[in-house]
Amino acid sequence: MPADPDILPGQSPELLKELHILTRDGRLNQDSRRKLKQVYHLYRFIEPLLQEVLQQHPGIALVDHGAGKSYLGFILYDLFFKGLADGSHIYGIETRDELVTKSRELAARLGFPAMSFLRLSVAESIVSDQLPATVDVVTALHACNTATDDAIRFALAKGAKFVVLVPCCQAEVAAALRKTKGRALANPLAELWRHPIHTREFGSHVTNVLRCLQLQAHGYQVSVTELVGWEHSMKNELIVATYKDLPRRAPAERLRELLGTLGLEEELGGRFLAAP
Ligand SMILES: C[S@@+](CC[C@H](N)C(=O)[O-])C[C@H]1O[C@@H](n2cnc3c(N)ncnc32)[C@H](O)[C@@H]1O
Repeated sequence: MPADPDILPGQSPELLKELHILTRDGRLNQDSRRKLKQVYHLYRFIEPLLQEVLQQHPGIALVDHGAGKSYLGFILYDLFFKGLADGSHIYGIETRDELVTKSRELAARLGFPAMSFLRLSVAESIVSDQLPATVDVVTALHACNTATDDAIRFALAKGAKFVVLVPCCQAEVAAALRKTKGRALANPLAELWRHPIHTREFGSHVTNVLRCLQLQAHGYQVSVTELVGWEHSMKNELIVATYKDLPRRAPAERLRELLGTLGLEEELGGRFLAAP
């Protein structure tokens, strides 16, 4: 059977079958075609970053937080890492034991030795000796709630060159806005989050704005786009941060001012202003 034009060259049909993207007889149905297109869409953002790391040194260390079934890690490995014999490695961080076990078994079956799956929370992974002291690329795709924030802390602590985030919902900022609403209403800006549905939506928006400023305040250049084609999820904001050692003072001041204006410095200063 000729190769399906929607499957990238070099992609192993065995992996796609294991991930239930290809049927056992090697076909793509409508649903899996869409899923594959979405993962490839993200791959197209990440592949140039991997190339850039390789131009600097051999041996990429990539850590994927909140890995789930590790679709992203497996596709990245199959398309890019499989052909490298330079110590490059993908680490998947996941709290759910059964998902970690399944991913380990799948990597063993496929013969993907440079993949490790660790049953750790993102916060635990920052201090775990099972991970290298420095990493090149950090990804977190729909890592729940504050796991994305912990992934940022991880990236800062490990000196990551690239951070690729597609945040999930985060409830912490909305909760802080709710808590301080009474005091904040003296400020007409607080109308932006007076009503409960606005508190949630505005909280979610502010969360990602704070995350971007936090990364900028540590010398990163940040781009925010939409992960188009990710139709199955409402959460499709893609944040890509590249460490460029940019001036930190202005974004750090902006971050502090914004927290102050929103009345959140006391509640959230620890998360967004602290050194990693
Ligand atoms: C919505 S799923 C996304 C899975 C995968 N990244 C994807 O996009 O297909 C989020 C995953 O993050 C894991 N998770 C949630 N909080 C975590 C934490 N603090 N540390 C590590 N994993 C976490 C969950 O168990 C779940 O598997």
